[in-house]
Amino acid sequence: MGRFEIKAKDGMARLGRYKTEHGTVKTPLLMPVVHPGKSDISPTELVEVFGFQMIITNSYIIKSQEKFRDIALSNGVHGLLDFDGPIMTDSGTFQMYFHDLPKEEIDPLEIIRFQRSIGTDIGTILDAFSKPGVGMAKVEEDVQLSLERAQASISEKGEMLLAGTVQGGVFPELRERSAIAMAKLNFDVYPIGGVVPLMERYRYPDIVRAVLASKKHLPLDKPIHLFGCGHPMLFAQAALLGCDFFDSASYAKFAYSGRMMLPTGTVHLENLAELPCECPVCSSTSVDELNGLKKEEKDLDLMRHNLYVSAGEIRRVRQAILDGKLMELAAVRARGHPMLYQAFQVMLDSSDQLMQSDPIGNATSILYTGSETSRLPVFQRFHKQVLGTYPYRKTKILILIPDLASNPFSDVLPELTRLVRSQNPVDTVVAFVTPIGIIPWELEHVFPSQQGIFPSTLDPVTLSNTIARAVDFLQIIDAERVIWTSRNTPTNSIFEDIVDAFHIEHVDGVGKAIEEMQKYDSDSIEWTKRKLKAVFSFQWGITGDRLFDSNSFNVMLSRKTGKIRHVKDGDEILFTLVPTTGLLTPTYEGGKRLLAEGISDRFIVMVDDDSAEYVRKGKSALAKFILKASTELLAGEEVLIVDKESRLLGTGRALLTGPEMLQFSRGVAITPRHSMQ
Ligand code: GUN
Ligand code: ZN
Repeated sequence: MGRFEIKAKDGMARLGRYKTEHGTVKTPLLMPVVHPGKSDISPTELVEVFGFQMIITNSYIIKSQEKFRDIALSNGVHGLLDFDGPIMTDSGTFQMYFHDLPKEEIDPLEIIRFQRSIGTDIGTILDAFSKPGVGMAKVEEDVQLSLERAQASISEKGEMLLAGTVQGGVFPELRERSAIAMAKLNFDVYPIGGVVPLMERYRYPDIVRAVLASKKHLPLDKPIHLFGCGHPMLFAQAALLGCDFFDSASYAKFAYSGRMMLPTGTVHLENLAELPCECPVCSSTSVDELNGLKKEEKDLDLMRHNLYVSAGEIRRVRQAILDGKLMELAAVRARGHPMLYQAFQVMLDSSDQLMQSDPIGNATSILYTGSETSRLPVFQRFHKQVLGTYPYRKTKILILIPDLASNPFSDVLPELTRLVRSQNPVDTVVAFVTPIGIIPWELEHVFPSQQGIFPSTLDPVTLSNTIARAVDFLQIIDAERVIWTSRNTPTNSIFEDIVDAFHIEHVDGVGKAIEEMQKYDSDSIEWTKRKLKAVFSFQWGITGDRLFDSNSFNVMLSRKTGKIRHVKDGDEILFTLVPTTGLLTPTYEGGKRLLAEGISDRFIVMVDDDSAEYVRKGKSALAKFILKASTELLAGEEVLIVDKESRLLGTGRALLTGPEMLQFSRGVAITPRHSMQ
């Protein structure tokens, strides 16, 4: 039975629930490290005052000191720490590395058995931590040793949940190899280890590469723990990469050396005249007062500050996932340190990996944060999808209208709207030139056309991305004439670079473009049909000709906005246009038509018989009952749910990707739209 469940996704991040013997926790989460002896701040205070849900302590320290060991063996680790919430224990790996202890110091299997006997919720294997700079051969040895111990440990775990750490240092190939091998063993949690020295040296790009390489192969239905990542400036980016658990000894370590953690970086108390923070500690004291305290009291105050700030950032991360805003948060946080910014760029270089996980249509706006915005996976995916699916590729005249990606495009040009609606695509294609790419008029309401909010002066990187995308689009369109309508907008300037190569004609203003359009005597197909075929193609890869060319096809427009609301056959509603995404939701009857039109298997999900009767009645399809789902199915897409005999049960919106649906055995896979009954 699975313990992990996804409630919402953003990028590779998951807002989840994880069930342990001592309670269910919300992810992403941060566990403060608690020392069994000198717990400066008690676990109860960590939970009640700061809002933490789980703590982590060290089983090696407990085991190696009689006073802790005896209590833990008789009262459990929960008794020792006087805490009845979820507790994770580490194995001593880090102490071996940090104090350079001999190999014999800890027996890898004994430490597993010990963790089990003290009743920890999640134990950890004794993985081999690679020292920085030791070279690939030694790291490879450590990966191998970790794996051997992992294999031996798994049979000792009993009822305890066990974390199996991926190692591999700064070598992505070794991270991949480690992850592939570890994934075959059925661990409950997968930490990514060995990053502490990288954290300390600001080697964030190496951390991103290590996480990306590991995530390629780790199971989707298990939490990923970024071991030793306790600085709030990294939480947003690490969560975006799919890390679910974090732990922090840093809150104390930083405090001892007078350092205050902020989501934007680290500051040293000794350099401050003001406390740059609004937490309860900083709000009720001053730099002078802090400096006047005894060392232990000052340390405690700084620890509390560090905990407040870390807990706050984790909450912000969880909210951002829910809002589809984690990418923006990570982009803003990346400004905290040049190496973090570089790490963010490394992540964007792996957009394909991110795109496989990123759900469609979960953000209401995507705000420009800098030159990276136009490269975001959400825009790259849209651009690719337009290139791959736009159905009107042969036309007499292509009119390009420079615009910002701010809404709405044609609506601010009513005369143009009226005219383009009466034109046949064989005669005229109108498209807007925006920083996210070329947006054909038919797709101007499709996510994320209207969601990107850019400033009215664009940076050079964004402009060169705009040129590259314009060129891509021009290459797929076979037009007798291409007209650039020059207007006073930020994307206008890109044309200077491409007019010659594409023999682009130039007119001044939209009025002139309209005059040119009128030269083409159109046989006027209905604009709704033209638009719907393009949306169909974009969404499902088919143009739905049989449906739209039938005599009984009709649409219902919104009385207020004049936009398409329902697509009908006679009186029967087949599809509804979702205003937030501009995509179509099939009704049950609409779903049947999609099957008849030969929609790709990518959009068909099969559930087993136990689930069929619920889905038929309009209940969610649960992950544990999914029999078949395409590896290409993205989260957020509109799908058809069928039974084993391929009979349609209902339609819905995928909450998970196809691979996630197959791996998870807990939680909702598809939220229902319409059903048989
Ligand atoms: N704590 C910080 N880093 C690590 C690691 O790589 N492995 C283990 N077991 N604990 C850690
Ligand atoms: Zn503070």
